[in-house]
Amino acid sequence: MNPDTQIEMMGSSPTFVSVLRASRLVAATGATVLIQGESGVGKELLARAIHDASPRSKGPFVPVNCAALSESLVESELFGHTKGAFTGALNERAGRIAAAHGGTLFLDEVGDMPLSIQAKMLRFLENGECQPLGQEQPRKVNVRVVAATNRDLSALVLANRFRQDLFYRLQVVPLMLPPLRERGQDVELLTRAFLAFFSTRHGVSCPVFARGAQEVLRHYSWPGNIRELRNLCERAVIFHPGQSLDETFVQGQLNAQISSGQVSMSNAELLTPALALPNGGISLDTLERDMIRAALERTQGNRTHAARLLDVSRDTLLYRMKKHALR
Ligand SMILES: Nc1ncnc2c1ncn2[C@@H]1O[C@H](COP(=O)(O)OP(=O)(O)OP(=O)(O)O)[C@@H](O)[C@H]1O
Ligand SMILES: [Mg+2]
Repeated sequence: MNPDTQIEMMGSSPTFVSVLRASRLVAATGATVLIQGESGVGKELLARAIHDASPRSKGPFVPVNCAALSESLVESELFGHTKGAFTGALNERAGRIAAAHGGTLFLDEVGDMPLSIQAKMLRFLENGECQPLGQEQPRKVNVRVVAATNRDLSALVLANRFRQDLFYRLQVVPLMLPPLRERGQDVELLTRAFLAFFSTRHGVSCPVFARGAQEVLRHYSWPGNIRELRNLCERAVIFHPGQSLDETFVQGQLNAQISSGQVSMSNAELLTPALALPNGGISLDTLERDMIRAALERTQGNRTHAARLLDVSRDTLLYRMKKHALR
């Protein structure tokens, strides 16, 4: 069972609510949906919610992680095979698409689907036919497809790594889940809900985040998005039940996550240099000015928060702003 079934999708920020609304409308139809968004924003949760709210909810929900499919087995894994279709095919196998008959096939990490299978996938999406390896006649299946990716599919199309026709066929209804850092008030709402949820689950009393801690949470960049926040809340509940947790606690937690590489790919990425030195070199001075500008823009001119984003003191930031004649 999916351990998340107890938690439904929460959020009240306008960007999130409009995606949720669109997803409810599309759930009622059989339309193909493409969910996009960074790691941990809730793509799988949304795919399940669409299935649960659809007329197919009694049917199966079959997730397939396209990034985990090996090139050689991908076709039989998805489309199935007959007995003896290839060396090692000792028994007939139905395949994931057939397993989703009457329900929803969730093509997760669809940007990583091997090119070799994409044409066959397109045919299945266009006429609902599934042809197992070794079988001459394709079978009709009744499957709704929801796909998800954290990659920029149009860029993959440009790089000839993803078929353009498949891209258009998948994104009949594109849904873009916003990253947590763009969901303002939702950080607080989700924090409270996760703390309550895990306190109940672990049978302990609920900790709270003091105001300073909430400020840090609100202005953190959340590279691991909701998954990262959820994990932080669960740790707070387990290690500090019933306590009031301050800014220092949260800061320690966020730093600990980055240095132990615990959370997600995106956090791992934080450890590698974010900027590559261009061949022709770069002006460090200009780079510094641009980064300060970007931080001020992101924090809507709030210098305390901009200084935090740049990991310098407020005084250092003010000094450097003056140096670059930034206001
Ligand atoms: N709106 C939300 N409300 C409550 N919990 C959420 C919400 N969105 C995501 N979560 C939780 O955050 C975690 C990550 O969600 P999910 O696995 O769906 O993300 P994802 O976008 O598929 O991530 P990835 O790209 O890494 O696969 C899950 O535990 C999920 O339950
Ligand atoms: Mg996912």
